[in-house]
Amino acid sequence: MALHLGAQYILEHNVGISDAVLLHPLTEEAFIENIKKRFSHEQIYTYIGTVVVSVNPYKKLPLYTPEVIEEYRSRNIYELPPHIYAISDEAYRSMRDRNLDQCIIISGESGAGKTEASKVIMQYVAQVSGKGREIDRVKEQLLQSNPVLEAFGNAKTLRNDNSSRFGKYMDIEFDFKGDPIGGVITNYLLEKSRVASQIPGERNFHIFYQLLAGADPTFLETLKLSPKPENYGFLNRSGCIKVDAIDDAKDFNMVKTGMEVIGFYRTEITEVFQLVASVLKLGNVEFSHRSNADGTDGCDISNTGEIAEVAQLLGCLEQNLTNALTQRTVEVKRDKVKTDFSVAGAVYARDALCKAIYSRLFSWLVQRINDSIKVKTEQTRKVMGVLDIYGFEVFQTNRYEQFIINYCNEKLQQIFIELTLKEEQEEYIREGIEWIHVDYFNNAVICDLIEKSDTSVAQKNNVGILALLDEQCLLPGNVTDKTFLEKLNQTCKDHPHFESRTLKKNQSDRTLPHDAFRLKHYAGNVTYKVDGFIDKNNDLLYRDLSQAMYACRHNLMKKLFPEAANLKQQRTHILGNPSQKSLKRPPTAGSQFKASVQELMKNLLSKNPNYIRCIKPNDDKQSGTLDLEIVKHQVRYLGLMENIRVKRAGYAYRQIYAQFLYRYKMLADETWPSWHGDVVEGVKLILANQKIQQDEIAFGKSKLFIRNPKTLFDLEETRRERMHFLATLIQKVWKGHVKREHFLLMKRSQVVISSRFRGFYGQKQYKKKKAATLLLQCCTRRWKARKVLAELKHEKRCQLAATDIQKHYRGWQARKLLAELKHAKRMEWAARVIHKYYLGWKVRKNYKPKFRRIAGPKVARFMVVALKRKFLLNVRDKLPSLSPVDNKWPSSPKMYKSASDQLQVMHHKWRCRKYRRKLSEAQKYTLREKATASDIFKDKKVIYPESVPRPFKGDYLNIRGDMKWKKIHSLTNDINLVFADLVHKVNRANGKIVQQLLVVSSQAFLVIDHRTMTLKYRIPIEFIEKISLSPFQDKLAVFHMKKPENGDRFAKKGDFIIGNEHIIEIVTKSSLCVKNKTNTMPEISISPQCSGQFGSSAVQVSFQQGAKGLEPGIPGVKVTRKKHLMLISEP
Ligand SMILES: Nc1ncnc2c1ncn2[C@@H]1O[C@H](COP(=O)(O)OP(=O)(O)OP(=O)(O)O)[C@@H](O)[C@H]1O
Ligand SMILES: [Mg+2]
Repeated sequence: MALHLGAQYILEHNVGISDAVLLHPLTEEAFIENIKKRFSHEQIYTYIGTVVVSVNPYKKLPLYTPEVIEEYRSRNIYELPPHIYAISDEAYRSMRDRNLDQCIIISGESGAGKTEASKVIMQYVAQVSGKGREIDRVKEQLLQSNPVLEAFGNAKTLRNDNSSRFGKYMDIEFDFKGDPIGGVITNYLLEKSRVASQIPGERNFHIFYQLLAGADPTFLETLKLSPKPENYGFLNRSGCIKVDAIDDAKDFNMVKTGMEVIGFYRTEITEVFQLVASVLKLGNVEFSHRSNADGTDGCDISNTGEIAEVAQLLGCLEQNLTNALTQRTVEVKRDKVKTDFSVAGAVYARDALCKAIYSRLFSWLVQRINDSIKVKTEQTRKVMGVLDIYGFEVFQTNRYEQFIINYCNEKLQQIFIELTLKEEQEEYIREGIEWIHVDYFNNAVICDLIEKSDTSVAQKNNVGILALLDEQCLLPGNVTDKTFLEKLNQTCKDHPHFESRTLKKNQSDRTLPHDAFRLKHYAGNVTYKVDGFIDKNNDLLYRDLSQAMYACRHNLMKKLFPEAANLKQQRTHILGNPSQKSLKRPPTAGSQFKASVQELMKNLLSKNPNYIRCIKPNDDKQSGTLDLEIVKHQVRYLGLMENIRVKRAGYAYRQIYAQFLYRYKMLADETWPSWHGDVVEGVKLILANQKIQQDEIAFGKSKLFIRNPKTLFDLEETRRERMHFLATLIQKVWKGHVKREHFLLMKRSQVVISSRFRGFYGQKQYKKKKAATLLLQCCTRRWKARKVLAELKHEKRCQLAATDIQKHYRGWQARKLLAELKHAKRMEWAARVIHKYYLGWKVRKNYKPKFRRIAGPKVARFMVVALKRKFLLNVRDKLPSLSPVDNKWPSSPKMYKSASDQLQVMHHKWRCRKYRRKLSEAQKYTLREKATASDIFKDKKVIYPESVPRPFKGDYLNIRGDMKWKKIHSLTNDINLVFADLVHKVNRANGKIVQQLLVVSSQAFLVIDHRTMTLKYRIPIEFIEKISLSPFQDKLAVFHMKKPENGDRFAKKGDFIIGNEHIIEIVTKSSLCVKNKTNTMPEISISPQCSGQFGSSAVQVSFQQGAKGLEPGIPGVKVTRKKHLMLISEP
């Protein structure tokens, strides 16, 4: 595996010795100097083997970025400079890959950076472990538990602005893949005395200040709080409220968000802050002295408003709360008696209550977080524990809390010593290497002094301080801190680590007060004031207060004081342990703490330990300053030098063969660049190559051990030089390779480019040549073609010319021949003419006298006959068509004009006859009718011409098929109907015109009512003697009857006048019918006047033309009768 570039950079910039085991010479000064040198270059971490020594830089360094995490991910611990990430990675991978539960123990004094280191570990684990929705949620919850617990459990102290006032051990649980699935937090002894009082310059727990600074005003109002911390007794007495480095308002929001992320319900969050507010407000409750009647001291609450508000907040009766704070119940001979508190007693009770509420709230918070982050599934888990517990503390005045904290640190130091030595020892045994014992200070003796609990009578003087304290607490009667000290002096007087003013050895020691004892801790001497030891160890809360809290209608408060439910069976004083419900006296705070520390030790021992030893560089929280004395002190009490010595006693350095081979394989030609043989052989080759003495090294079963760090240094130095050489070599070869590759590439490229260019050029040339060749070819072909064409044209022209010449020649020959022939013919003709004339002349000469006499008339006759023939032939050839109406006729010479006219008439008649012959009988009759009409009316009646082209239809009403008509004619025998139409009949008396149906049959005139089809009268046809019409436009006719003979009925009625559109037809047809019947045509008179016989009177009918205002046509006439004159006016 090649060294990562970033890592290489870090290695090359390494300052000093990164693993103190390799220090040479190994002295305390050299060690501290090395730490200082590294610290000045911001390299705050140094290894002692696998232990990380961390110096608090008191400033942000760019060491915790995701990129740095990636650098350290899955890397060997010595591959990169020391870092918490390296040890975290080592622990994480051992846990994940080798299934070893891990714990990381972070130790150091207050402000050394333990809490920060634990956060760095969690950040690393969160980044390198798997991803996913559920996993991320768990990670987020685990990470968010920090700000919440820090807010409630951390405070500003003189040593640390964010000092953890509780111990925390957090087990992070992983699944088989190494993904976090949950966790468990264990908390140790919260320094609850801080709730009620702090030494000057320190603050209460952060949450009080955060709530006041960060909560919005309305929320504060509901909590009945004012935003000013100065208004609260628990916050204003130490004189420190604001810390520059802390933004309380911002932190409050982080806490709230954290609680939400962890899964606190809104109501729970509100309840938590209500309790915080109650503590603050209870701290403001003041008491005033009252003397009771029985002479005892009593007290009253002087600011009752405050107590009323607290009662509202907690949902309890104000009086109950007041009573609980000012009185207490005592049992006197099984009777319960109430006694009043003095003012001091009340203040004590109030503070005790506040401390109890707060510490129980804190425990509840841890429990609640655990509920959220606990693993929900039943799967096998791997665990990585992180212990961040309060550091060793030495104050001006040290009390019970410091005693407990320092006891815990003693235990941790012991476990460190034990585990480190044990591990070392075991490793040598495991590897089969002889172990040489190294002396070191074992603080077991101090641990014994504190925790030993052999209470047998024989060993009466052999009990620890904690056991003595418990014993004192159990003693009936007046037990005080003083009696406890006495007992202590008595019991521990011979202990080398115990000092007291009453002891002989310390009688002259003025630094040791009379009310104190001193313990010589591994980390230094601490003087503890015994004041408050008994009380704090008892950790009692008055029953009345517990009951009052349990009686509150506040969910959370009720949960915090469950013991009150069973108080009836309990003694007056009960312990504050919420789970304690039996009558048995609850364990003291000291014994509880001891038990939990022992539990913790057991837990840590069951896991593979990893150490981070934190060092505080100065007491002023200054960055860049390292106080040698302060560091020296810490180096001493942390036993770091012993640690190094132990590491170096046997062999300073050990490495698994494979890793050693991998790291130093470049130091032997045989192993570089790779070794395929036995690993130990490979290592031996390297060592031989480097000429390392045999007594300097030992071969374990799996590891190589190097005694002297200098040997390793030399190896490292040689390796560095070799690496440099190899790097140069690799660089050289690489550069050569790159250049050669580049050259080859260029060459290949050049070949490609030139071949492409040549190809391209050749192609271009070829195309040019091809085009030129084509052009030449085309020109040549064109020239050739033109040549051939010219030849062909010439040939053709020659041919044409020859043909032309031939033609002309032939023509000329023909013409010549023709001329000759013509000439010959003319000559012949001339000869014949001459001959004829000659003959004629001869004849004429011979017959001249005879001709004049005989031939003259013959010629004349011949001429006449010839002319006639010509005329007749002309007529024959140009005869007109056979249509009788064709008027054309060939012209003729004048002398044959009359013959021509006669012939024309004959021809016309002939063709008319021919035409007639072709006619049917009906056509003939029609023609006869028309001819008759022509005879009657032509040139006589104005309206005649318009009737000529109209055929005589006769039955205009189509009554032949009419049943009524059939009925009529069956009676009258008028079957031969010639005319039927509606006619206008003129009333003979007054000239009025009425419409009637007139039917003319071959036998009679029938006048019929056209509406009813009833016959009005019938006039036999033979009765009509004459018909009169005017020559004008009217369409009227007067039908004259024969003179009445023998009283003939119809004749007597006289003449009648009818008018009709077809009057010409009526007159013609009725005339023909009369003729058919009588063989004589009736007389037809066409004249403007006629005489008529209307009945018995003779009337003159006169037609008058030119009447104005009359419509033409029928009945466009006006008929008037004036006596014997009937005037028919027409327009
Ligand atoms: N690695 C670090 N980088 C930057 N600052 C640091 C680092 N470690 C510690 N600090 C600073 O030192 C302060 C004290 O550190 P931290 O709270 O971790 O001390 P501690 O050992 O937990 O003390 P205590 O025992 O009082 O809880 C932190 O608030 C921080 O400002
Ligand atoms: Mg801390």
